[in-house]
Amino acid sequence: MQQCARHVLRMTDTLTFRRPDDWHLHLRDGDMLRAVAPVTAAHFARAIVMPNLVPPVVCGEDAAAYRDRILASLPAGSSFEPLMTLYLTETTDADDVAAAAASGLVKAVKLYPAGATTNSASGVRDFDKVRAVLERMAEVGLPLCVHGEVTDPDIDIFDREAVFIDRVLDPLRRATPGLRCVLEHITTSNGIDYVKSAADGLGGTITAHHLIINRNHLLVGGIRPHYYCLPVAKREEHRLALRAAAVSGDARFFLGTDSAPHADAAKETGCGCAGCFTAPNTMSCLAHVFEEESALEKLEAFASLNGPLFYGLPANDDTITLQKDNEPVVYPAKIETGEGPLTVFDPGFDLYWRVA
Ligand code: DOR
Ligand code: ZN
Repeated sequence: MQQCARHVLRMTDTLTFRRPDDWHLHLRDGDMLRAVAPVTAAHFARAIVMPNLVPPVVCGEDAAAYRDRILASLPAGSSFEPLMTLYLTETTDADDVAAAAASGLVKAVKLYPAGATTNSASGVRDFDKVRAVLERMAEVGLPLCVHGEVTDPDIDIFDREAVFIDRVLDPLRRATPGLRCVLEHITTSNGIDYVKSAADGLGGTITAHHLIINRNHLLVGGIRPHYYCLPVAKREEHRLALRAAAVSGDARFFLGTDSAPHADAAKETGCGCAGCFTAPNTMSCLAHVFEEESALEKLEAFASLNGPLFYGLPANDDTITLQKDNEPVVYPAKIETGEGPLTVFDPGFDLYWRVA
């Protein structure tokens, strides 16, 4: 710790810990990929890359080609490692999945209930049709990343996560013992409680934005399209439950940003896409939240240790340093992409922690 040379202001705080990974990320393709991949690679060592492209990444061959396109989008000398996933469809081939896992190319399979979110039309309607693949995944130890929302039009959007756990996830896990699952981007206390109820084989990712916004931020005083994501932010009591889990150090919870870029034109329209682009300021937001919760010492577990532990991978050897400044960190409000401007997540308050 050192004092500012000229003025005796606050002491400079720094925090150094193992480099974080992002266990749930959308990198897209083409121009958007080229714009956003370097942003994540600037802070994170690895990321579980979502397969919901158009068309989706459904087989090992697709994943290998997509991985090459990601690597080609990184700045020269970047050591960022994309961890590839396959998109589970009702025609996914268990042998292809097992081979892609055995080769080390694919680290997880993603389950989208058909129609639940962006580019999920090829997802699963009839879970009996994917039973053989899930059983093979359990055998080979390949995790299933789960978008946990039902699509039943009779279920209110704010209840869709809780109902999914009861109707789909719990029965699926009981029917496939040994299948390792990640309940992704948890938004409710129900999700937190469910992950805590499992002794083994179930993890949960939490985004930075769900630690910061509740549904009032999205809807009160005008609709904020850049706060619209899926699962949608819930009531305050749920946000507080997410915060408690994230800062607890509990190894079952880890960072998955769900940074999901959509160009402004696709967000600021009559039927806007779901997704918050948080890649530039996730680490600043997290440090802010963990400091508010008097838990800065738990940030490393959440962002850098618990995820690799779940996936059976080593934690990163190198480190990241966060520095707390006296002046707010200046992030661009938007970044330019080949698809047009892309708005960066605005937490609604100044951030003082920056990546050194
Ligand atoms: O907000 C979201 N955006 N949630 C998802 O599940 C998908 C993602 C996307 O791909 O845009
Ligand atoms: Zn996502």
